[in-house]
Amino acid sequence: MSAEETVQKWIEVARWSPSADNTQPWRVTWAAPDPQTITLVLRKTPLGAGSTPIENELQQLALGSLLTSITLVASEDGYVVHQRAASDDGLTLQLKMSTVKTEGWSELLRRRHTNRRPLNRLPLSPEQLEFVGQVCAEHQGLSLIDFSSQKKKAARLVARLDLIRYQSRQHLDHLLKVLRFEAKAVDGLDVKSLDIPLAAIALFWLLNRWRTLRVIFFLGLEKIFAFVGCRWLIQQSGHFYLLRAQDSSLSSWLEVGRCLQKIWLEATRRNLGLQPFGHTFITYEAHKNPEQFSRDHLELIGQVQEELLRLHPSAQLSTAGIFFRLGKPHKQPVVRSKRRSVAELLAP
Ligand SMILES: Cc1cc2nc3c(=O)[nH]c(=O)nc-3n(C[C@H](O)[C@H](O)[C@H](O)COP(=O)(O)O)c2cc1C
Repeated sequence: MSAEETVQKWIEVARWSPSADNTQPWRVTWAAPDPQTITLVLRKTPLGAGSTPIENELQQLALGSLLTSITLVASEDGYVVHQRAASDDGLTLQLKMSTVKTEGWSELLRRRHTNRRPLNRLPLSPEQLEFVGQVCAEHQGLSLIDFSSQKKKAARLVARLDLIRYQSRQHLDHLLKVLRFEAKAVDGLDVKSLDIPLAAIALFWLLNRWRTLRVIFFLGLEKIFAFVGCRWLIQQSGHFYLLRAQDSSLSSWLEVGRCLQKIWLEATRRNLGLQPFGHTFITYEAHKNPEQFSRDHLELIGQVQEELLRLHPSAQLSTAGIFFRLGKPHKQPVVRSKRRSVAELLAP
């Protein structure tokens, strides 16, 4: 197989990596300086106008998940990844051929997806969950906080943060921007893949037309959204975790992304469902850009953070990190998310 065919095969699989709102914020260029070596440059896509205050961090997290995917899929061909350079724009990797090959990652990388909702309350045994801590320990500077025994309290707190997403113009505008109603869209959140009731899809469609927040406030609908889309989901799932780094450097966001994807793949191997909870990035945003939030919202965020710290003294939400639910899926997924083509990702 030529170097070009090899790279195309890797990207075909790795592009199924997760990214917040399915933005797939990555492009890849490559070179083959000698028959044993392939160089890959993973570039973040430029941030568009009206991007969220932490889009750069979310891109870095997504780059981390892509890095894990490329590392694993390349290992099937016997390649070992060495990180050569890192900057705010992306990473340069050198992949060297070795004699050791590992099997089976492509299949897991293709099978993993968000729509296997872990909506089965039954807790898993400590042995079944051991892999989560083991994977976390392989990633430098990360820690894992298990809220599973305090799910109800954590769910109530996280749902209070979720409310802000519907009450703030900036966040609702962002949600409407990433929702996709057209079948041909290859990025963003295809409403059919969201696994939400038809009535909610219809409502999103109407909101998309109206683009007005006042209607939501008038009807008080944001409380129902935060309950169904957040509090209830957490209460119904087997386990709820926070994966976090010690600081908020871009390399920590990369590491969180690398680790999340590995935990997700190991969960997929065990036929478990996982769903990240990006709602809670609000606290990080408020820490980074307090001027973007109203006084009421800053107060609410402060209270929630305090109460979370009472649940667990390390549950600090001002550094790189992400919440996720984990457990047995309740049913087979129906529709899955889409991806950009290999040609688009490899375009110079
Ligand atoms: C940082 C991050 C945050 C995410 N937050 C959420 C979330 O709050 N709710 C959700 O349902 N999915 C969330 N996801 C899942 C993405 O929407 C999903 O990975 C993307 O749409 C691609 O779909 P797939 O995972 O099915 O391939 C998140 C993923 C990432 C990487």
